Amino acid sequence: MKVLVTGSSGQIGTNLALRLLGEGHEVFGVDKRQNTWTDEFPTLLQDLAGHYAPFPGGINGVEYPETDLVVHLAAHAKVHQLVGEPHRALENAVMTFNVLEFARQSSIPIVFSSSREVYGDVHRFEGYSEQAADFAYTESTYSASKIAGEAFVYSYARCYGLPYLVFRFSNVYGRYDNDLRRMVRVIPLFIHSMLRGEPITIYGGREKTLDFTYVDDCVDGIACGIQALAERRVVNETINLAYGQGNTLVYCAERIAQELGVEPQMTLAPSLLGEVTHYVADLTKARALLGYDPRIPLDEGLARSIAWFREHRAQHPEEEVPVRADHERAQELGEGWKSRAPQSG
Ligand SMILES: NC(=O)c1ccc[n+]([C@@H]2O[C@H](COP(=O)([O-])OP(=O)(O)OC[C@H]3O[C@@H](n4cnc5c(N)ncnc54)[C@H](O)[C@@H]3O)[C@@H](O)[C@H]2O)c1
Repeated sequence: MKVLVTGSSGQIGTNLALRLLGEGHEVFGVDKRQNTWTDEFPTLLQDLAGHYAPFPGGINGVEYPETDLVVHLAAHAKVHQLVGEPHRALENAVMTFNVLEFARQSSIPIVFSSSREVYGDVHRFEGYSEQAADFAYTESTYSASKIAGEAFVYSYARCYGLPYLVFRFSNVYGRYDNDLRRMVRVIPLFIHSMLRGEPITIYGGREKTLDFTYVDDCVDGIACGIQALAERRVVNETINLAYGQGNTLVYCAERIAQELGVEPQMTLAPSLLGEVTHYVADLTKARALLGYDPRIPLDEGLARSIAWFREHRAQHPEEEVPVRADHERAQELGEGWKSRAPQSG
């Protein structure tokens, strides 16, 4: 197959593209940044968030190669950043619109990367099956961008017969996620900070529970979905992709510390605005429709992630510098970030 991957320089895009190449598919990447991890597939450098005139062929009239299917991963993918800079949420919606227009005009199916964020802070649900999303509880501008993206996808299926799969990912971690100057994610941030003997803060407190997904499991699910959609075995479905088990962030931090052989210095703090504090995916649908079978539990995934982190850091000692989390940057910019909890003082 010839697969066009948007956001191909990012964490999931890079892992997915390499996996598809390994299976004998052709990959064409589109991203506004060069891929810093690999040059094994071509990347068109293009900003997908422009308001472009109607285009024949590729977005903004750029000639794309022949394509069988598009996987749309490009997005501003960080909750706190989008709470601080909400115009980026609108850009996410515009990117999705442009990619949908490309898919419609080329008559090719689309895989859209949504998020567990569309469920909101799901303490109010007993289970987390795909129908449980309730958009009256949009937690953040990032959630809004994913809800808008899904809505556009569903409308294109209804109005133009566009075949799709929507995947809702959850806390994907592992290989190619430790470019901390670009994107601060909790697991590489904890590894980075603990290796430097620095304290960490757990926002959301001791109970905060998430479904961490090792990137190879996530990519397995997407690859199965691509095959199933291309063969029209599974069409127009919305599917959770995660590991299917909740782990507290505190446990995650303790395991990282244990693996690194350090004593963690943890501070607990109230959750940040827009944050989901409890989520465990229901994978019934993914298992039934795609034979999805995630294999890497958190302990194993953390060991792999730390081994990869150490190897990568040994080759890039220049990355051994202090890192500020996104919400600290947003706060400094005075962009309206505030804690969910009442401020003292
Ligand atoms: N990683 C996770 O835990 C997770 C969880 C839920 C959903 N998702 C979604 O999955 C997708 C991939 O996530 P990721 O972890 O690989 O994120 P990432 O940030 O590593 O990759 C996203 C890529 O999109 C590109 N991009 C952003 N704006 C663009 C624009 N205007 N034009 C072209 N390219 C642009 C970025 O340069 C980046 O390379 C995203 O849509 C994200 O919202 C990820």
